[in-house]
Order: sequence, then C-alpha cells, then structure tokens
Amino acid sequence: MNLSTRYLGLDLRHPFMPGASPLVDDIDAVRRLEDAGASAIVMHSLFEEQIEHEREGLAHHLGVHANSSAEAASYFPEPAAFALGPDRYLEQVARIKAQVGVPVIASLNGTTPEGWLGYARLIEQAGADALELNFYHVATDLLEDGAAVERRVIDIVAVLKETIAIPLAVKLSPFYSSLPNLAWRLDQLGADGLVLFNRFYQPDIDPELLETVPALRLSTSAELHLRLRGLAILSGRLQASLALSGGVHEPVDAVKAVMAGADAVQIVSLLLRRGPGALAQIVRGFEAWGEEHEYDSVSQMRGSMSLSRCPDPEAFERGNYVRILQSWRRTEQAAAGH
Ligand SMILES: Cc1cc2nc3c(=O)[nH]c(=O)nc-3n(C[C@H](O)[C@H](O)[C@H](O)COP(=O)(O)O)c2cc1C
Repeated sequence: MNLSTRYLGLDLRHPFMPGASPLVDDIDAVRRLEDAGASAIVMHSLFEEQIEHEREGLAHHLGVHANSSAEAASYFPEPAAFALGPDRYLEQVARIKAQVGVPVIASLNGTTPEGWLGYARLIEQAGADALELNFYHVATDLLEDGAAVERRVIDIVAVLKETIAIPLAVKLSPFYSSLPNLAWRLDQLGADGLVLFNRFYQPDIDPELLETVPALRLSTSAELHLRLRGLAILSGRLQASLALSGGVHEPVDAVKAVMAGADAVQIVSLLLRRGPGALAQIVRGFEAWGEEHEYDSVSQMRGSMSLSRCPDPEAFERGNYVRILQSWRRTEQAAAGH
C-alpha cells in the first residue's frame, strides 16, 4: 500500500506524526519519534504569554498566568511545562532541524498581532518547515460576538500569509458557529492546512477548598467522532490540506481519520501514555488494515467517507439527528422486553 501523503505542500512518507506536545522538548524523544517513523515533527506551541512572563520574571508564577489568560493557562498544569522560553524555543527549532530528516512544524500561540507576527518571523528564520497557528480561545467576554472572535483569526492569518513564506496550518477549536464558513474563509486567504481540533482543558472545581483544579486528562478514542464529522464536512471542498488531531489511539482510528478526509493525522495522548514506539504500531496497523481491505494507497482511502462522497451523508447532517434519538428509544424498549 502506498502510504505517501501531501500535507501543507510537504511530501510525507505517510500521514502519521506526533502532534504539538512537550514530547519534543527532549531531543532524545525527538530521535525516538523519528526512529518510530514519524513523518514530521510538530513542536509544542511557543506562547506569547510565556514570552511576556519571562520578560517580567514571572515565568513560574502560574497564579498570575491563570488570572491573566484562561486561554494559555490551561496548557500549563505544571510549572515544568514552561521549560522552553522563546530563545530556547528558537534554538530547539534549529536543533531539531539539524537532528531529523523529516519536516519540522513549529507552533505559535499569540495574543497580540505584534506577537503573532514577530514570533512567526523568528520561527521561520530559525528554520521551521511550516508553522501551525494555535488559536486557543475561550470566550469569556459578554460583549464580544462570534464574528469578532472569527475576525481575529482571519486578520492574523491574512497578515501572516503576507509576511511568512513557509506554509501555515491553522489549528482550530470545534466551537465556531459555522466551522465550514470559517474554514472556507481561511482557505480563501491561502491557509495551507487546517488542524481539527484543539482540545480544551476544562478546570474542575474543588468544592471543599473553593479552588479550581487544573485538569489535564489525556484523550480516548471517544474524542475522535467530533473530529471525523468536522473533517468529513470539509473534505474535498477546500484547497487547504486537512489534519486530524484528537482521539487516535488504535490503527482503526487512523483508518477512520483518513476516510473522513485527513491528509495528516497527529497523535499526542497515545504517545504520552505509551511512548514514541506507539506511533510505529499505528503506522503498521494502518497499513495492515489497508492491505487486508485491498486499498492501494492512502489517496484512494482519503475522503471516501466524507460528506460529499459517503453513501449516507445524512449521518453528518441534521436528518440523522431524529433517527438517532428514536433508535435509542427502540433499543431501550427492546432491552426491557417491550
Ligand atoms: C501535555 C499536552 C501539551 C500540549 N501542548 C500543546 C501545544 O503546545 N500546542 C497545541 O497546539 N496543542 C497542544 N496540545 C494538544 C495536542 O496537540 C492535541 O491537539 C490534543 O492532545 C489532542 O490529540 P490527542 O487526542 O492525540 O491527545 C497538548 C496536549 C497535551 C496533552
């Protein structure tokens, strides 16, 4: 089976790569990921808050961080996650580039237009092959409407497309009112890829201590479905390539991701739990599944279950909603012997 794919204009051996995470803070882990067959390396994000905090000498004061921004704070459950400041991040881009033969995709989470622009330029100069823009926004402002939230994404991508030559991927959250419209507008601006989706880390509440408790739970395959639907809706309708991020734990999850339309599949929780070797198992298991089912190539499989091509498009649309609800009632009644 020909596993090759094209993502962000980059020719890759196969679609499977580690997604943004601290795995790449450690150069040995990066080497092990490459040995396990990673087709690209995605770095964790450089966070603009982190840069500002370093300047203010506050890098380890999570309390301040948490109060100042709900967006990035949740990515930092442990002070250790601040390990790479901006200079070290840029050095790490160069170091990883020097160590591996596969493309290196850096990631940036800005908060101001100057931050996005300035650090995107520096990351490009450091030698990254592509840049993933991590738009992680938690709406808390009663006066900011959805259009304004989307406008910020659009404006930043427009400016970056004008100034940065390396390919840009946009990592989105699932919570936009109209994902297809936002995706289409990003596509029109020339975004090279879309990553579906970011995960939101929702703090728990400790009712005794009256404190919020940062909760970073790793994913399960249950998170895949939201991504499959998003991909299936967009697949085949945009110029931008598509990556799935979230919920891939078994080879069959990877098969579903490609069938829904993924050009690339990013994996994090599985690798954090089981180590870089788990990537090789996904690649092998995916290939074995494809060969068993007589697929010649990834491109033959890609998008075969997209909204525009799958035999039951209603499954992705509203029509199925009523049927699903009713099917539960029937199943329950049958189980109760009615
Ligand atoms: C510990 C940890 C750190 C992460 N750091 C980043 C990050 O810096 N930037 C980013 O865009 N996503 C980050 N993510 C999100 C992952 O890239 C990915 O989108 C998410 O975990 C879903 O994929 P999974 O189900 O394979 O874990 C992080 C996830 C984890 C668990």
